Amino acid sequence: MTPTFTLDAAARAALFTEARSNTRFAPREVPVDVIHEVWDMIKWGPTGNNTVPMRLVVAASPEARAAVIANAMEGNRAKLEQAPLLVIAARDDRFHDTFDVTGGGSASTYDRLEADPERRERMAHTGTLLQAGYFIIGLRAAGLSVRPYGGFDKAGMDQALLADTSWHSEVLFGIGWPTDGDHGAGDRKGRLAADAAVCTL
Ligand SMILES: Cc1cc2nc3c(=O)[nH]c(=O)nc-3n(C[C@H](O)[C@H](O)[C@H](O)COP(=O)(O)O)c2cc1C
Repeated sequence: MTPTFTLDAAARAALFTEARSNTRFAPREVPVDVIHEVWDMIKWGPTGNNTVPMRLVVAASPEARAAVIANAMEGNRAKLEQAPLLVIAARDDRFHDTFDVTGGGSASTYDRLEADPERRERMAHTGTLLQAGYFIIGLRAAGLSVRPYGGFDKAGMDQALLADTSWHSEVLFGIGWPTDGDHGAGDRKGRLAADAAVCTL
């Protein structure tokens, strides 16, 4: 049975089947306002106990951008140079400080989390990776292209940009508008078919 998708084929192509992890983009600026709008959409994606632990660091100034690229793995630097906007998804290990907004728990939950930084780090890490996925899809929904990067010195990035905060970098994104020319992502690599990846018990 073919499901009746709520999104039409063009939307599904833009979000998933045709979208690529571009390294090349149109020569056009990405306004920071667009990242705010994307955040205000993707923040509604679910996270465990509604912790919503991802924070976005927009490297808009030349200094911040240079620091991001300096802390990337050497093989990623030339690709990052080509992206009009660089954004870091960071986890906030003090996500429980915003329970008044996110309704994450009672005073006793707060106290338990306060006493257990390792648990908070695990929860923040998991939730942030989940939200990073929502962010990719949200950017694509806004008509942008994005390449995620895990290849960077996280401790160095935190030292350069997030020192003395509870935020810790997790995933880096090179973001821009799609180009009419080569997307720079190379040939599309395969994905498992449903009968190999989905197990029905
Ligand atoms: C968590 C994560 C880390 C990644 N790290 C890197 C990286 O360090 N360097 C890089 O060039 N691409 C990196 N990528 C990009 C992937 O290689 C790319 O998204 C994948 O091959 C799918 O490409 P496609 O969307 O064009 O099909 C990363 C992607 C993800 C999701």
